[in-house]
Amino acid sequence: MRVLATRRLPGEAWNELRDVEVGTPDSRRDDVQVLIVANETVDEAVLDLLPSLRLVANFGVGYDRIDVAACRARGIAITNTPGVLDAATADLTLALILAARRRLVEGDDLVRAGGWDMHWADGPFLGREVSGATLGIIGFGRIGSAVAQRARGFDMRVIFHRRTRSDDPAYRELDDLLRESDIVSLHTPLSTETSGLLSRERLALLRDGTTLVNTARGAIVDEDALVDELVSGRITAGLDVFVNEPQVPEALVGLPNVVLTPHIASATVETRAAMTRIVVDNVLAFERGEPLKTPL
Ligand code: 8YV
Repeated sequence: MRVLATRRLPGEAWNELRDVEVGTPDSRRDDVQVLIVANETVDEAVLDLLPSLRLVANFGVGYDRIDVAACRARGIAITNTPGVLDAATADLTLALILAARRRLVEGDDLVRAGGWDMHWADGPFLGREVSGATLGIIGFGRIGSAVAQRARGFDMRVIFHRRTRSDDPAYRELDDLLRESDIVSLHTPLSTETSGLLSRERLALLRDGTTLVNTARGAIVDEDALVDELVSGRITAGLDVFVNEPQVPEALVGLPNVVLTPHIASATVETRAAMTRIVVDNVLAFERGEPLKTPL
């Protein structure tokens, strides 16, 4: 069975695939039945090139770049990698919260540039406390819950918003959460419902000095409005995702109040190997005619 993969995935499990070719689906291929993608676009144009395709196996939990309806209409199954990247993503979220609140990158830059010439008590490196801060989590699934668990260890007060209302006393309507939080972290999938969810108007609800962290998808936030807020210096941010990756808005690059990382929330040796394991298990199950491990 011919498997086309957009890249070789990390970890031992990859070696269990037999008939796999690494390449880009950019020309017509009648033989390809399985396509392995790592968050690349799978739209009608790609599907037209692969008329024998029966499975799209995504290396990642988010599948916003796969046209699910188009796949369904053609009888093509889709799998993703849920569960195994929750801890790594939650860890990076906490890292970004701490880095932005405690001005970690600014401090590191200063030391490396030989600019450490003030007494430790003088500032200007006064950050904002994490302990005692209110953390507003938007999207309270597996990853959001893992962030909450860690945040409690830092004595943060956790409130959350999710699509379905909850009787939990920590539940807030979205605008209320934005007004009440010292730190806001995004953990919702990107969909037609969540695209632009943090609009310019909603970003304006954030209090001065709030820290916004995004390890989900760039397009959940109005990126132009976010850039304006950051340029004004009114808020701080930790951003792992952007609208047009790998491009980062030029205006952010020189700003001291934003920490920028290159979409690495799931990027640990252990997590990436576990993601590959799931991709490979799905492909092998498909080849054997067994039920898929993690179908959408
Ligand atoms: C990427 C992610 O998929 O799981 C997700 O949704 O965004 C990441 O894990 C991964 O970096 C491969 O592109």
